[in-house]
Amino acid sequence: MDFLDVLHNRRSIRAFSDKPVAQEIIDGLLLEALESPSSSNTQPYKLAVATGDTCKKLGQQLLSKYQKSSKIQRQPLPLKVVSAITSGALPDGDYKPILGKYPPEFQKRRLATGIGLYDVLGIERGDKKARDDQMAKNFTFFGAPVAIFFFIHPGMTFTAMVDAGIFMQSLMLAATNKGLGTCPQGALGIWRSPIDKHFNIPKGYKLLCGLALGYPADAKVNSYRPDKLALNDLLIPVK
Ligand SMILES: Cc1cc2nc3c(=O)[nH]c(=O)nc-3n(C[C@H](O)[C@H](O)[C@H](O)COP(=O)(O)O)c2cc1C
Repeated sequence: MDFLDVLHNRRSIRAFSDKPVAQEIIDGLLLEALESPSSSNTQPYKLAVATGDTCKKLGQQLLSKYQKSSKIQRQPLPLKVVSAITSGALPDGDYKPILGKYPPEFQKRRLATGIGLYDVLGIERGDKKARDDQMAKNFTFFGAPVAIFFFIHPGMTFTAMVDAGIFMQSLMLAATNKGLGTCPQGALGIWRSPIDKHFNIPKGYKLLCGLALGYPADAKVNSYRPDKLALNDLLIPVK
């Protein structure tokens, strides 16, 4: 594919076909992503790649965490606290999710993105059940046959996050180039214990986020193309 076509065609995919991705293809994409730059070439990341049965089991275990936690959210306050402690569904990821609202400028964009997605799906704003069901799909990787979890070494502080982000983008572009789809998923950083059940994560490495990988399904949700910033909103004017 032409580079600009790859750049413009990459979009977050939220419905995958169940066609498996051959191991040689996964390896090929990872090798391409390894061309990425990193701070002093430290490459301070490790990946846990779940396929086949591991991917299915992991998806069910993460979904169960989400379902428990979502049920707790709907309980009255005193019960909520007790259930949260006893349910085993408290987030145990390494980086805590942003609780509550984002800073106003970003909260506005976050809301617009969510509303745009639900509009494409025909989900009414007040339909909490449908929104919850859509959110739940994150945890089975939107049906993708491959889920990749990114771990970084915290000793490299912020550069590790930048490096992992660049690696992820390379991987997403490489996948797009081969006709595959991806969705980077912060949601996959909320619970770590299910991943530890399936992989021996090297000591000290922290779970950053995950990524779904597979062949896009012919589904409406995959047509969603949220707006990007206007250049004026991106650039800081000179004094
Ligand atoms: C770090 C990061 C975390 C994300 N987490 C999620 C997620 O948990 N679930 C999801 O559906 N999309 C997630 N996304 C996808 C964004 O919503 C998406 O990139 C954004 O809306 C722009 O759309 P595009 O990727 O199609 O250009 C994430 C993207 C990034 C970069």
